[in-house]
Amino acid sequence: MTVPPFDFEYLCWLVREQSGVVLEPHKDYLAVLHLDRIAEIAGYDSIASFVEHLKHSPFSDLHLQAIEALVINETSFFRDRDPFEILKSEVLPALIQSRSRDRAINIWCAACSTGQELYSIAMLIREAFPELSSWNIRLIATDFSQQALDRARQGMYTSLEMNRGLPLNFRDRYFRQVGKSWQIMDEIRRMVEFRPLNLIQSWNSLPAMDIIFLRNVLIYFDLETKRSVFHRVQQTLQPDGYLFLGGGETTLYLSSRFEAIQTTTGLYHRLRSA
Ligand SMILES: C[S@@+](CC[C@H](N)C(=O)[O-])C[C@H]1O[C@@H](n2cnc3c(N)ncnc32)[C@H](O)[C@@H]1O
Repeated sequence: MTVPPFDFEYLCWLVREQSGVVLEPHKDYLAVLHLDRIAEIAGYDSIASFVEHLKHSPFSDLHLQAIEALVINETSFFRDRDPFEILKSEVLPALIQSRSRDRAINIWCAACSTGQELYSIAMLIREAFPELSSWNIRLIATDFSQQALDRARQGMYTSLEMNRGLPLNFRDRYFRQVGKSWQIMDEIRRMVEFRPLNLIQSWNSLPAMDIIFLRNVLIYFDLETKRSVFHRVQQTLQPDGYLFLGGGETTLYLSSRFEAIQTTTGLYHRLRSA
């Protein structure tokens, strides 16, 4: 497909308007890479004519496909390790004590991409906390990308994805091989719930959360969007709940309501007492 100049500014506006994600300027070559196939399948002979069509038509599935293709959805099993270690050694043992009366814990992966993050938590719980099998544990994961959610629900991963962060014994215990791919076992899939949720739209459908994983998505938002997301995290997290951010993310200068707790293994955030 030939690539005459096209309106990258319009694509930046579209992506930001619908997802809050700020695309890096001068990365129009990435747009070419990612939109090429979508434009071709949709019957356009160039990205320029595809973008012209998007510009002049009402919002449709094609707009959504373009946005989803331009937003980074990089993820992996047990990404960064530390949050999962802290979950295992500190956070879940503490919640098992403090929630022993209700025997219920809600965990949310906001911006879950293709599901590896939530499945990692589910496998960790199954492996290290068998006593929780009689509790009401809700593992909810959300993303705005329908494509990512479809893949997450399917729980099917390539060998390359399986080799990124997943211990071999977990692969053998919790996946079955399907051709060249691997699918998560129903026993784990039954523990999780994947739902659409756009972080810049309403969060009303969510219950109060004991643990929130909000990792590697805030880095793509502008300051105002980050502040508004933290404000809503504050309202969604139980007063004694736990917040995990990505390695490059912080609440500093964005919200004074959270304090960072440094452990020997890594960092998490809690709400300051009012
Ligand atoms: C880099 S991935 C991070 C995935 C996972 N949390 C991790 O740390 O491995 C970022 C994800 O954020 C999602 N995302 C971007 N903007 C969003 C928004 N406004 N609402 C919900 N999800 C969003 C993308 O679709 C993508 O799946």
